[in-house]
Amino acid sequence: MLKMFLYSVALIALVAGVACFYHLYKVKSKNKAEMNNFTNEVALQADLGKVLVVYYSLSGHTKDIAMQIAEKTSADLYEIETVEKYSSPSVYMKSKQELTSKNYPELKNDSMPNVADYDTIFVGGPVWWYTMAPALYSFLSKVDFANKNVVPFSTQGSNYGSFFKDFNDTAKNARILQSESFNNIEEKYKPQVSNKINAWLNKLAK
Ligand SMILES: Cc1cc2nc3c(=O)[nH]c(=O)nc-3n(C[C@H](O)[C@H](O)[C@H](O)COP(=O)(O)O)c2cc1C
Repeated sequence: MLKMFLYSVALIALVAGVACFYHLYKVKSKNKAEMNNFTNEVALQADLGKVLVVYYSLSGHTKDIAMQIAEKTSADLYEIETVEKYSSPSVYMKSKQELTSKNYPELKNDSMPNVADYDTIFVGGPVWWYTMAPALYSFLSKVDFANKNVVPFSTQGSNYGSFFKDFNDTAKNARILQSESFNNIEEKYKPQVSNKINAWLNKLAK
């Protein structure tokens, strides 16, 4: 009986391992195919007026993209920070609870950016549980974009789920422009990611 149980556990672990490996392989192939579209240098021609880049980032991926956008558009940067910082691995359970209960975290910065001062406002963050990280919900609930041009962006492992739909439903009075999403990707693709951002910014400026 015990032997049977151990065999079953081993089999389940094997199947899960193979499925996980196959998923990672598929994501890697998809990322490679996407990056192949951005091997040619894309010159930046965008003028988006006075730009603000707002971001939330726990482990640095969104921060990296936000900094690149800010550098390319000479933007001001604003980091969303939670009063209580998430730690790993409890971030998974904690954020799931916050999203399910819609009890979003308190934010650190008591002075919000004055969005009225800007022509274009980028707002980005990580995908958590196929939607926006809870801190983005907290931020968006506090800001009235009053017909400003708002550009959402995400970073994720591989699947952004309903991030952009949820963003559109939550950002009050925003005029939402074309969004972009960025899978976490190997360092070797840095030039391609830069070209991808340039191509996106150029389209936004049209
Ligand atoms: C709690 C949690 C949930 C996540 N859920 C998803 C998800 O649903 N889909 C996905 O592709 N990646 C998911 N990820 C991976 C993050 O979206 C990804 O690593 C992101 O780039 C992290 O951004 P940051 O470094 O700016 O915090 C999740 C990560 C965490 C911590």
